[in-house]
Amino acid sequence: MDRDGVKMREISPLSQSAKGFICENFLNIKGVISMQPRAMTTHQIRHMKGKEPIAMITAYDFPAAKLAEEAGADILLVGDSLGMVVLGYDSTIPVTIDDMVHHTKAVSRAAKQALVVADLPFLTYHGDRKDTLKNAGRLMQEAGAKAVKMEGGAEIVPMVQACVQAGIPVMGHLGLTPQSVHQVGGYRVQGREFDAAKKMLEDAQALVQAGVFAIVLELIPEPLAAKLTELISVPVIGIGAGRLCDGQVLVYHDLLQYASPVKPKFVKAYASIGDQITVAIRQYVQEVKSKDFPDASHVFGMDDQTKTQLDAHTVNPETSERI
Ligand code: KIV
Repeated sequence: MDRDGVKMREISPLSQSAKGFICENFLNIKGVISMQPRAMTTHQIRHMKGKEPIAMITAYDFPAAKLAEEAGADILLVGDSLGMVVLGYDSTIPVTIDDMVHHTKAVSRAAKQALVVADLPFLTYHGDRKDTLKNAGRLMQEAGAKAVKMEGGAEIVPMVQACVQAGIPVMGHLGLTPQSVHQVGGYRVQGREFDAAKKMLEDAQALVQAGVFAIVLELIPEPLAAKLTELISVPVIGIGAGRLCDGQVLVYHDLLQYASPVKPKFVKAYASIGDQITVAIRQYVQEVKSKDFPDASHVFGMDDQTKTQLDAHTVNPETSERI
């Protein structure tokens, strides 16, 4: 049951003295009311399929993660898109596992409730199972992610299985897979032709069989996303995949128009933060130049006696003589 946008459920027998309903996220595993909101799990995400739309957003640092969590995001994705929107590369390919660990650590420190999922970057899950587990393990153990995301279909099934068998939840990613941008020939809609659409359906089934708890679909036609969402048993989270998925994901910098280089058709800009930042910083620069900042309200004083003592002892640092 939904009340005011929060998940509510009838109080469990353990805490029946408090009649009525309470926010499910404030029940601990024994069903007892806890002051700490409960952290979102991959199991909860799976159970949201067909019941409640999943809201996912990327985050790459502490303040972004904190704000996104306060705003109610279910999943914070530390996407390798950070290579483009934070580090200034022209693709996600240069992003390293160290970059991902660094940014995921910051996001995990802020996330008390939302599920933190971190991308395994380019070529970190294509060698052997041992390397894949080492890299996924770093994101979980060192950086605090609760799951990892991998791009690809049937070809990555052995790596998905290795992680799932080791207790690492995996989110799949099909459609446009930006780590393969040079192979697919650009950032363009995928799965428009029958063969490609059919292959995507098969890849999705293979990933589900391998144990993924959710799949991101990027830049595919709405009817194909709808078909996939209907056919597979795990939540489908779309980006440029239309209205009929189980959830949506957007890149933080796109959604807020925060120095995001382009605004693709599938992005809705909910704010224009970049413009506001430029206006504010321009004013700061002007006030520094004009000496309007800082003014009296920004400075710290000193008592008169100390000031007099200081004046009496002020020496010229070059001559050591009193000034
Ligand atoms: O890296 C990323 O931000 C992503 C999203 C676009 C889904 O993979």
